Amino acid sequence: MSAEKGRRLFKKLCSHCHNISEGESHKYGPNLFGVFGKQAGSVPGYHYSEQHKNSGLQWTESNLNMYLENFKETIPGSKKKIPGVSKEEQRKDLIEFIKTTTNV
Ligand code: HEC
Repeated sequence: MSAEKGRRLFKKLCSHCHNISEGESHKYGPNLFGVFGKQAGSVPGYHYSEQHKNSGLQWTESNLNMYLENFKETIPGSKKKIPGVSKEEQRKDLIEFIKTTTNV
């Protein structure tokens, strides 16, 4: 697992829809700063779909892993219509990176 690799993957795969630094704006998706451990749909000021808000998920390591592998199956009917990240190694790096923004 490598937060540094995760940062680079995030830039490539996620950053056109998500910022992830404190205080930055929301894009098509919410700013993901500090989401690790939170309830899904709890970033202030972002307009989530009902399906996402009502998913009942908490962003633990295992739930994030499941979500990143298949966004659409994990939360059917959400605004996010892209394929997931199929490589487990890449998901682990991404999660490690997301964690670092929560523990600052
Ligand atoms: C095409 C745009 C897009 C891309 C690319 C994208 N996302 Fe998202 N993401 C969204 C949207 C939109 C939502 C909110 C979904 C909703 O409200 O239905 C979201 C939600 C999330 C959430 C849940 C946030 C919360 O507060 O509950 C996480 C975590 C997340 N994305 C991680 C990622 C990661 C990691 C990547 C890169 C692998 C990624 N996303 C790529 C659009 C995107």
